[in-house]
Amino acid sequence: MKIVIAITGASGTHLGIKAYHLLPPSVEKYLILSDNAKIAAKKENIQILDDDAIWEGPASGSFGIDAMLIAPCSMNTLAKIACGIADNLTTRAASVILKEHKRLLLAPREIPLSPIALENMLKLSRLNVIIAPPILGYYSDPKDLEQMERFIIGKWFDLLRIEHDLYKRWQC
Ligand SMILES: Cc1cc2nc3c(=O)[nH]c(=O)nc-3n(C[C@H](O)[C@H](O)[C@H](O)COP(=O)(O)O)c2cc1C
Repeated sequence: MKIVIAITGASGTHLGIKAYHLLPPSVEKYLILSDNAKIAAKKENIQILDDDAIWEGPASGSFGIDAMLIAPCSMNTLAKIACGIADNLTTRAASVILKEHKRLLLAPREIPLSPIALENMLKLSRLNVIIAPPILGYYSDPKDLEQMERFIIGKWFDLLRIEHDLYKRWQC
């Protein structure tokens, strides 16, 4: 399975980086950071694709990306994807995922949400894009921030059909 994770300039960039690190070794993984997200990743020793590098693999349908996670997803990037704008590697890769009918998961981070953001999310959801903001489920009984984040990333992996053992599942 080939996965691309993109991180945009919203609060919580470390969540995307954490999700990247928690992907199982069987997954072929790529990471794109927008300019605003790069600041947060400065100290990480990971393979990063430049958001300006529109020629990189995920920009082409023939590269064969199976799924894409944008976490966090800024309202700016969300709006661009909803309008079909593909002006950087993240938005181009997302538009490729849409045209190829592959799995796209956006984790929008904003509070409160404007009517424009809500409309953009509804439009994308109707196109089978998964809208999954970083929202905590208390039934997982998290004890600390680490467990809270593992729950959220675990939910994203469930939706992307990636096997994991990141959180305690609901049991009656
Ligand atoms: C410190 C900081 C925090 C931000 N947090 C958010 C946020 O949580 N959600 C959001 O939609 N935009 C947020 N923004 C604004 C985006 O960074 C801005 O809209 C930018 O154009 C997004 O560009 P990108 O989508 O190419 O990453 C934040 C900006 C800064 C400087």
